[in-house]
Amino acid sequence: MSDRTILIVGGSSGIGLALAEDLVAGGDRVIVTSRSAATAERVAAELGEGASGVAVDISEPETIADALAGVGRVDGLVLGAIERDANTIREYDIERARRLIILKLVGYTEVVHTLLDRLEPSVDTGIVLFGGRAKDAPYPGSTTVSTINGGIDGIMNTLALELAPIRVNSLHPGIIGDSPFWAAKPAGVLDGYESRTPGGKLATVVDVVDATKFLLFNRGVSAHSLFVDRGWRIT
Ligand SMILES: NC(=O)c1ccc[n+]([C@@H]2O[C@H](COP(=O)([O-])OP(=O)(O)OC[C@H]3O[C@@H](n4cnc5c(N)ncnc54)[C@H](OP(=O)(O)O)[C@@H]3O)[C@@H](O)[C@H]2O)c1
Repeated sequence: MSDRTILIVGGSSGIGLALAEDLVAGGDRVIVTSRSAATAERVAAELGEGASGVAVDISEPETIADALAGVGRVDGLVLGAIERDANTIREYDIERARRLIILKLVGYTEVVHTLLDRLEPSVDTGIVLFGGRAKDAPYPGSTTVSTINGGIDGIMNTLALELAPIRVNSLHPGIIGDSPFWAAKPAGVLDGYESRTPGGKLATVVDVVDATKFLLFNRGVSAHSLFVDRGWRIT
């Protein structure tokens, strides 16, 4: 087992969980988070030796420091937590917008701020911030989602500058059809998205896990905003 510890905020399901499974299989230690302590502990137990769980709700940034007080040295930090939201301009809900903006833009930033004394100031230390392709490919109701995903690149740039030699990158998945959120949708829902990729197929969870590890561990990459969307942009 390596002595590297990767903290995955949003590691209890979906892409974050798949990343945790991959890292544990490769010998790394992982800390996965959930809003629920019971879920964090259950997921960590299922991941096996080398995994532990922590409860944190990043939509309440003032609670983050206390929630992460027990976390020790962190060699890699992945911020992937999300609460899904659709909020059209015609029926704009201020409270839902405020909650999601705080979760991603303030919550992610406060996690990094909280952990500064536990992140080694080294080029070997990587931080990956998750946005999404809705930042440039909107859909009705995506104003808040598009805003926060775009904001992730702003945070990435300032953190990469302020925290160097620590490397900070962002990852923007397209629709990931085999992630639990999309896999649970009725048959046919993904057809329109698939037809808009150059090869007619969507990127997968495995693709995103692989890209996350690249951004986390490649010592030459910082302040890079990476799309994992099978080339959606060119269609
Ligand atoms: N899946 C896709 O197709 C897709 C596309 C574009 C972008 N993305 C981005 O990729 C990332 C991962 O997506 P996913 O589909 O794998 O997510 P997911 O399966 O929905 O998992 C979301 C994670 O966020 C945690 N979470 C939710 N609210 C939280 C809060 N207030 N505080 C702390 N943690 C919270 C959840 O933990 P608990 O529920 O256990 O508390 C869970 O671990 C997200 O940032 C998402 O925006 C995904």
